[in-house]
Amino acid sequence: MKFRNFKMIGYVIYGRGSFNQLDEILAPNRKGEAPVVFLVDHFFRDKEAFVSRIPLRGKDELIFADVTNEPKTKYVDEIAGRLKAAFGSVSGIIGIGGGSTMDLAKAVSLMMTNPGSSADYQGWDLVKHPGVYKVGIPTLSGTGAEVSRTTVLTGPAKKLGMNSDFTPFDQIVLDPELIKNAPVNQRFYTGMDCYIHCIESLEGTYLNAFSKSYGEKALELCREIFLEKDNWDDDSDDKLMMASYAGGMSIAYSQVGVAHAVSYGLSYLLGTKHGVGNCIVFDHLEEFYPTGVKEFKKMTEKYQVAIPQNITKGLTDEQFDAMINVAFGLAPLWENALGKDWQKIMTREKLRTLYEKL
Ligand SMILES: NC(=O)c1ccc[n+]([C@@H]2O[C@H](COP(=O)([O-])OP(=O)(O)OC[C@H]3O[C@@H](n4cnc5c(N)ncnc54)[C@H](O)[C@@H]3O)[C@@H](O)[C@H]2O)c1
Ligand SMILES: [Fe+2]
Repeated sequence: MKFRNFKMIGYVIYGRGSFNQLDEILAPNRKGEAPVVFLVDHFFRDKEAFVSRIPLRGKDELIFADVTNEPKTKYVDEIAGRLKAAFGSVSGIIGIGGGSTMDLAKAVSLMMTNPGSSADYQGWDLVKHPGVYKVGIPTLSGTGAEVSRTTVLTGPAKKLGMNSDFTPFDQIVLDPELIKNAPVNQRFYTGMDCYIHCIESLEGTYLNAFSKSYGEKALELCREIFLEKDNWDDDSDDKLMMASYAGGMSIAYSQVGVAHAVSYGLSYLLGTKHGVGNCIVFDHLEEFYPTGVKEFKKMTEKYQVAIPQNITKGLTDEQFDAMINVAFGLAPLWENALGKDWQKIMTREKLRTLYEKL
């Protein structure tokens, strides 16, 4: 197909306090006695005030998602297997948390109805059946996981998403109150994921007016909150949440670029998390994104956030090769960033030199 015909999320609710409407939203989606399963970021384990607002009814189950590491296919299979054994089927999966928890919720929903292991579906359009009803509720903003058609998973052989038309959420709840207390560093790293999405999309060769419209708006919001405003306040949270949404929409019809490709290699080998990994790489990409990198450095200075250095020091040739292989496995990202002849521009040697700088 020449033009991508992409599936979007179902329903969107936005606004401060909109989380309070969750019970009402779920009611018509409950299937008889089958429980709703709330997958909640483990950060909220001891946050009684928040947990007590989750609308548990009947046999509903609350599971705290361990996102110490970004989601693995094994963890997805384990949760889906446990739910199938306990309940047969469920009414829905509600993911409440950062990008990791939202991705976990999407993947568990799909594995409630698709046989085998989630690792079998890492790739493009391999998922056969729609999952169960799924809702995404971000408590960190920036990844765009709330709108995307993928769920990024690390499997035995690769780090790759389950990209499919069945992957987007049926409903998302965007309540800026939920991201209010995110720690400054985490908010910055995840927020910069959004900023980098904008730069990679807007400077990419895949850009069209659809992506540009969303990307420009998201970039404008990021600049306002991370550069122009003096203090972080509720208005900043309102805007960051919309920047994440628009940034996600922008890459839905284009692609990310160099920072993401290189950061995937770090994540695969060293377990570096997505947000901070992108920052570590982007900090060294003046050659590809000169204006974006300059602005990024101003933002890190303003927020006094340290970007880790020398994380690849002392790695072996085999380890560098492993990262290079993962990064080069992501051809569409390179093509978007550098054009059809990207292999002539980004050689293995050049990528090795870049990894050595990180
Ligand atoms: N599906 C997609 O399209 C897509 C896109 C980009 C990234 N991702 C994935 O998203 C993940 C990164 O997501 P992220 O940056 O949102 O971080 P995260 O979900 O990995 O969470 C980072 C940390 O913040 C904590 N946390 C969550 N909410 C919090 C809050 N309100 N206050 C304090 N702490 C909180 C978590 O417990 C965790 O320790 C990666 O797994 C990445 O692969 C997915
Ligand atoms: Fe990203």
